[in-house]
Amino acid sequence: MINIPKGTKDVLPGQAYKWRYIEDAAREVARVFNLSEIRTPTFEHTELFKRGVGETTDVVNKEMYTFEDKGGRSMTLKPEGTAGAARLFIENGLMSSPMPVKTFYITPAFRYERPQAGRLREFHQFGIEVFGSPSFETDAEVILAASSFLDRLGVSTKLELNSIGCRVCRAEYNKALKNYFAANIDCMCETCRSRLEKNPLRILDCKEEGCKKFIKDAPLITDYLCGECAEHFEGVKSLLTAQGVEFTVNPRIVRGLDYYSKTVFEFVSDEIGAQGTVCGGGRYDGLISDLGAAATPAIGFAAGIERLMLLMENTGANFPEEQKPRIYIAGMDAQTRGAAFKIAAELREKGISAEIDHMNRSVKAQFKYADKLGAQYVAVIGGNELASGVLTVKNMKDGTQAAVKCGELYSYLK
Ligand code: HAM
Repeated sequence: MINIPKGTKDVLPGQAYKWRYIEDAAREVARVFNLSEIRTPTFEHTELFKRGVGETTDVVNKEMYTFEDKGGRSMTLKPEGTAGAARLFIENGLMSSPMPVKTFYITPAFRYERPQAGRLREFHQFGIEVFGSPSFETDAEVILAASSFLDRLGVSTKLELNSIGCRVCRAEYNKALKNYFAANIDCMCETCRSRLEKNPLRILDCKEEGCKKFIKDAPLITDYLCGECAEHFEGVKSLLTAQGVEFTVNPRIVRGLDYYSKTVFEFVSDEIGAQGTVCGGGRYDGLISDLGAAATPAIGFAAGIERLMLLMENTGANFPEEQKPRIYIAGMDAQTRGAAFKIAAELREKGISAEIDHMNRSVKAQFKYADKLGAQYVAVIGGNELASGVLTVKNMKDGTQAAVKCGELYSYLK
């Protein structure tokens, strides 16, 4: 027996409708926010993520599924959707379309992490990426789209907001962090030590207990924002407030990926254990130019579908019922089974879901099976029905029966 790889999940019959429900909510949000779907490959050149997501991040350093293809190129299964979306934007010349270019995607993503509740090695994201607008209205709109998506699913989360500044103020902040950590860096883990010179902001991500006590009192980015970044952040906050979106400013949110600038945010829940962030995102004004194209501001987010599912299940969400067969048509012998087959085929052509026997069951067993399937109606075809062309259609819910001409079955069920 070969088992499923660790950190991956099967979606079983009778479960996929829950996924579809979440995906439908995502598509509905995308529709009203006027976002266009994009799809990018499952694997990309490794260099894209190194340059895009950043070489000092855990995602790139420790978690990528990287392999050499038969042509000797280094490829990586996408660990997230933003870098691929940015590549798509650049490579297809979308910068010459009217701005902003508003996109969304639903994609699998792959990270070699230690699996636990809400943390998988293959997971799925609903993401939004909006390219070309520097204005704070766009930040507020993207956050509102995330909030509207979560509301539609009926999940309750808390929105935490921060600004991590632009390259100018971040340089000052990095200097302050370097000064602050330098005193204790020898007592900190190896990853923190290597980050001190390369990217001190990433030290704030460290989960090692021994490092956390030093991180706790580190300087806060909010004290280092330049005038423009502070003003931008105020703009986002005031639009959200005016819109009635509740949030708290958490100056400790720095996000785990290097491309962010200015606004960053997370929607968190304490109902699903340690991995409580169901949705995260932010502005990434430097990514497009880091990938070699003309500087283009952008902002987006991604919500983890498995985490949402977990949250919905833990909080007793009402998923709609999975669709059941509208009618089960039972035959008795070779001839009537043939008629059942034909009627079912005709109904399906017209869009009515119909089921028949595949297992040579007795009529009694077919009734039982139809009930198990949740069929709303059952019709039995015997010799009399065949001769008269009139079927007795039983409503399985209330037990009532009706005589329906074969030719009128469709309109009866419609
Ligand atoms: P992220 O915070 O790395 O951001 O991931 C976004 C969401 O994906 C998380 O909040 C979580 O729900 C889900 N997620 C991440 N890792 C796992 C995992 N191992 N197992 C299950 N779910 C997971 C990004 O990926 C950015 N690309 C978001 C973004 C888009 N920023 C700007 N645009």
